[in-house]
Amino acid sequence: MVAPQDPREEVIQAWYMDDSDEDQRLPHHKDPKEFVSLDQLSELGVLSWRLDADNYETDEELKKIREDRGYSYMDFCEVCPEKLPNYEEKIKNFFEEHLHTDEEIRYCVAGSGYFDVRDRNEKWIRIWVKKGGMIVLPAGCYHRFTLDTDNYIKAMRLFVGDPVWTPFNRPHDHLPARDMFKISCRRKLVTALSMLLRNLCNSLLIGSIVLALINKETSVYMVCLCLRLLELPVWFNCLCSISACLVAATAVNSP
Ligand SMILES: [Fe+2]
Repeated sequence: MVAPQDPREEVIQAWYMDDSDEDQRLPHHKDPKEFVSLDQLSELGVLSWRLDADNYETDEELKKIREDRGYSYMDFCEVCPEKLPNYEEKIKNFFEEHLHTDEEIRYCVAGSGYFDVRDRNEKWIRIWVKKGGMIVLPAGCYHRFTLDTDNYIKAMRLFVGDPVWTPFNRPHDHLPARDMFKISCRRKLVTALSMLLRNLCNSLLIGSIVLALINKETSVYMVCLCLRLLELPVWFNCLCSISACLVAATAVNSP
């Protein structure tokens, strides 16, 4: 068996869910399985870490995360039929699609469970968090929770300041937290597209310079390259690269 490249993947895995109404504690994989990477989760604002759950009291990495992100509050929540009062009612409530006006931060120190989040196209992604996995669901992100078939999780709950656990069941799209979440997702998408465009521009420009060198017409392309090196906005890069490419193509086709 090939070892996972990212150590987080040993304790946190995600996949798109099927549409079956079977027991919510089952994995609900699609057929064929459709996994979601931790990078894809981070594009939705879902952060993740792998930590030392056997030594959380003295774990320097956890301490640093708490300091960096201002997680001053901490407690534990055990979810299983024997230990959670009103278990049946609570497990039903946890599985209602809802959002919070603050982050939901959960660090699994024992057992495991599923956190389901909606992607940009409203499809459910199931995130399986096992011992040592810590995730942050952003404020305004619709989600739900269920145990898996092992029926047990002990999770550390963290919060900035006094905890507010209020769930707002869907629909609660009018909340500012929901707007902020959508804006943040859009920004991440624009950033990813800009990177893609920038890489495309670079490829075009390199191709144009090669053509220019072949045709001994370097001046136009050197100007474009200098402008490119100034780290100007992506639309300007795009313009320079396309212009250079057109000039180069014209030069190649001219007698
Ligand atoms: Fe929640």
